[in-house]
Amino acid sequence: MSQKKIFEKKMSSDKDGLRFATPEPVAKYRAARLTCCTIADISCGIGGQTIYFAQRCKHVYAVEIDPLKLEYAKQNCAKHGLTNITFICGDALDPAVIAQIPKVDIVFSDPARPPEEEVRQVDSLRPGIPTVMEAYAEKTQNFAFEAPPQMPPERIDFDCEKEYISLNGQLNRLTLYFGRIKRYNRIAVSLPEGNAMIDAPVELPPMVETDKPMLFMFEPDLAVIAAGLLNELVDDMIKATVGHVRVMKIDKKRTLLTADLLTVNPMNKNHFIALRTMPFETENDYAEINAFLKRSNVGKVTLRGSIDPKDYWGIRNQLEAGLDGAKKVHLFLREIESGRKEAILCELIYE
Ligand SMILES: C[S@@+](CC[C@H](N)C(=O)[O-])C[C@H]1O[C@@H](n2cnc3c(N)ncnc32)[C@H](O)[C@@H]1O
Repeated sequence: MSQKKIFEKKMSSDKDGLRFATPEPVAKYRAARLTCCTIADISCGIGGQTIYFAQRCKHVYAVEIDPLKLEYAKQNCAKHGLTNITFICGDALDPAVIAQIPKVDIVFSDPARPPEEEVRQVDSLRPGIPTVMEAYAEKTQNFAFEAPPQMPPERIDFDCEKEYISLNGQLNRLTLYFGRIKRYNRIAVSLPEGNAMIDAPVELPPMVETDKPMLFMFEPDLAVIAAGLLNELVDDMIKATVGHVRVMKIDKKRTLLTADLLTVNPMNKNHFIALRTMPFETENDYAEINAFLKRSNVGKVTLRGSIDPKDYWGIRNQLEAGLDGAKKVHLFLREIESGRKEAILCELIYE
């Protein structure tokens, strides 16, 4: 994604700093939630989050171990005309650095993490969460940490709120809140709109799975799935429609919901009419799908599922050959028994 789409003003940075900088819509949302008098941002990088804390809070203490990144943070904050920030270069755990920070309302840390990890771990964050909380215990009891959003809530063994954030339909951030700033157990937030879903205070009836689409299909926001709030979304939809809502597992990465009545819920990112389920194995199957799409006035097909990259364009060209209709269809590839696949053709009616 280009800088323009994620940052208000062009950010000064090294390559690394930009890659890890908080996108502006997330940084603004988080700053609004953490608005207070004084906040310490103790691993501030090039200042992607610091800028928005400084726009909301009376004073910000910004700490960064890498002098070059801190220099960029100063430049980026200056571009926004901000003068209420004390910049400190050093290790956030060094007592000499901690001594420069007075008592604050909140300590925020967006720690460094390994670029790649087979399974994301809270333990690999640097500086680590328990270490920061111990080192800053005299300054505040209110902490917010950024953590990798791929970590499911059950793998986070702290008494904290777990907030999963999606941005433009993609899972983007996970924030953990401790102390008085903890409001819920789990929450999913969908940005830029700001819609949210929280965990239910009572146990909900279990969700029912199906392998047959009903009339309508829904694609839940990825933050809902990551936060383990699918049951809450299904419950919301059932209350709104009085109909049946079932869960359909598509593959390891994708889960859809299906219902016999249409309900528009902001925590579903796409709403579809289920057109048809067809075999997806042979050249002949692709030709039949193409003929069906032509008859159904379809102009665009979005393939949703894993296809061997060497086959991808060949299959896509066959599916799309000669389509010039008005409808948009998403083709979900569902894995059925012994590696076979079926195509679930869904007409997009509401994004
Ligand atoms: C994920 S980046 C922060 C990005 C920042 N929130 C932004 O939006 O631009 C993490 C930063 O933590 C810094 N860091 C790592 N260990 C640190 C430590 N012990 N003390 C201070 N900063 C540290 C790294 O140099 C890196 O710039």
